[in-house]
Amino acid sequence: MPSSRRTFLKTSALALPGLTAFGRTHAAVGKAERIQLPAFNGSDDEAYWDAIRRLYALADTRVYMNTGGLGPVSYQVLERFREVTTDLQTRSETGHQLIEEAREPVATFLGAKPSEIAFIRNATEGNATIASGIGLKKGDEIIIDASAHPGGAIPWLNQLKARGIAIKTFEPYAESSEVILDRIASLITPKTKVVQVSHITAPTGILLPVQQIAELAHAHNCWFHIDGAQSAGIMPIHLGNLGCDSYATSGHKWLGAMHGTGVLYIREERLDEIVPTEVGAYSDAAYSLPSTFEYISTARRHESGTRNAPLVDSVRNACAFLDLIGMQRVRDRGLELSDALRIGLETLPDIEIISPRNADLRASMLTFRSSMLSFKDLNDRLASEHDFRLRIVTEQDLNAIRVSLHIFNTKAQVDSLVDAVREVLSKG
Ligand SMILES: Cc1ncc(COP(=O)(O)O)c(C=O)c1O
Repeated sequence: MPSSRRTFLKTSALALPGLTAFGRTHAAVGKAERIQLPAFNGSDDEAYWDAIRRLYALADTRVYMNTGGLGPVSYQVLERFREVTTDLQTRSETGHQLIEEAREPVATFLGAKPSEIAFIRNATEGNATIASGIGLKKGDEIIIDASAHPGGAIPWLNQLKARGIAIKTFEPYAESSEVILDRIASLITPKTKVVQVSHITAPTGILLPVQQIAELAHAHNCWFHIDGAQSAGIMPIHLGNLGCDSYATSGHKWLGAMHGTGVLYIREERLDEIVPTEVGAYSDAAYSLPSTFEYISTARRHESGTRNAPLVDSVRNACAFLDLIGMQRVRDRGLELSDALRIGLETLPDIEIISPRNADLRASMLTFRSSMLSFKDLNDRLASEHDFRLRIVTEQDLNAIRVSLHIFNTKAQVDSLVDAVREVLSKG
């Protein structure tokens, strides 16, 4: 990203520019204006990460390690959301210009062009927009990872029901990228129209080699869609470089935007290949009854009607907040925490870690199980006796526990989780 763009994002986090668009200045915008990051002395600088932790609107009453399910917002995002909502409600205006003002910074954060992104409610909506808009017909085949979340799988199952497509799955757990690519390649036939993968799988946090999968899919003239619900905000993303045709993500997980936010990306050259599912005001370049309707030339054609502009604005602010820290730093920290957890859990008897060890295939989620205690009992007791919020993994009968580690988690929390697992297992 050009440095001028980065500077813009950083400034936007501090100065909250959208408010002046209303011709009003807010004397008090709360903690957002006071963000002062301490000096950074390496990814194991706990003082730095403690300071980051205090910027999050997350109660200390329990240890939250479920960002893969839902991520907390920073005060910066929350207070700005309150401000903007109050401002719009007290004037009874939509604030739709905030949506347009968010487009460039959010696109830039994701390595896309503003014309390539649509603001949506969640990742599921983006996946469904691609599945229903790509125009599949009976007998067409799609390939998807067997770990797909319901939000990634059900939109295609709906196409199976409605249009008679066939779905083939591949197992994403593997010791190397080559094995994953071979599995996908072995499923491709002349009928294959789409390859979709989770960028990072929800059950065990496998980071899939999407650039190579893009090449493979395109070599066979397949559309390549990424379900990125678990990847935006956990690692640097440059959609232009990933090679995908489309990508959908949630705002309310690793990005730390308000609930009910997401982004759909469609590569500019391929925009016309996806027929929008829902259209209305704002989707059009021109319309008139009884017979004229032209889509707007950009991905905004997938947005329609009155929107909650402060929600979209929160995506912009969440990106700006993460950008202040820097996404490579975010990724390094997440991996460091998950390594610490792995090392700690490996000292305990009868623990099996299901997430990949291979550096290229892992993210900051770690899934484990114990042969001594059922995953449900272990999770319940970690919650009730030690105040941990984790997530059970029933998908693919894994019967395990997933730990999501983000920048507001600390080494001390990781150590205390290992201690808590040890204690629960020793009591039996
Ligand atoms: C890979 C994946 N896809 C889709 C979803 C659904 O996300 P949303 O609720 O934002 O639609 C999730 C949620 O956990 C997920 O992990």
